[in-house]
Amino acid sequence: MSDATSTSGDIMAADHADQRERVIELLTKAYWMEIETVMSYIANSINPDGVRAMEIRESLEKDIQEELGHAQQFAARIKELYGVVPGSMDFAAEQSFLQPPEEQVDVVHVIKGVIEAESGAIEHYSRIIEETDAIDPVTQDMVIAILHDEQGHKRLFEGFIREYEAEGLA
Ligand SMILES: [Fe+2]
Ligand SMILES: [Fe+2]
Repeated sequence: MSDATSTSGDIMAADHADQRERVIELLTKAYWMEIETVMSYIANSINPDGVRAMEIRESLEKDIQEELGHAQQFAARIKELYGVVPGSMDFAAEQSFLQPPEEQVDVVHVIKGVIEAESGAIEHYSRIIEETDAIDPVTQDMVIAILHDEQGHKRLFEGFIREYEAEGLA
């Protein structure tokens, strides 16, 4: 580049601090969403009772590692953009819909909670993709891949709920 002050398109450039701050804000929310999802999925991969709960439990157990990986990717990107990964004291829980049900055989409650969590992630990550368009293609690329994972999770659990709906149980 002949002009040293021409930094358009470079999210890491000094004069793009405002844009970076916004991206870091979006990434931090995504990071917390993944951390809370890990907590919720651990509980719901263990709590449910009954024959029909087995499939749900096993599926969530597998997802825990994937969601944890997402949290690590969001954290690493925060650092790359000169941000700091927040400490646990900044955490505020939001997943009221994924608290343990009254009865641990209430698998429908868990399935619906998972669909809501995945829908929330899909909504937020779609926003990140939109907002990073043309300003931060690397974050955008990373989040597109993560969004694909969340769409897969949502679709799987929508399949589970269909079975219960067909039997009039959901
Ligand atoms: Fe995730
Ligand atoms: Fe997910």
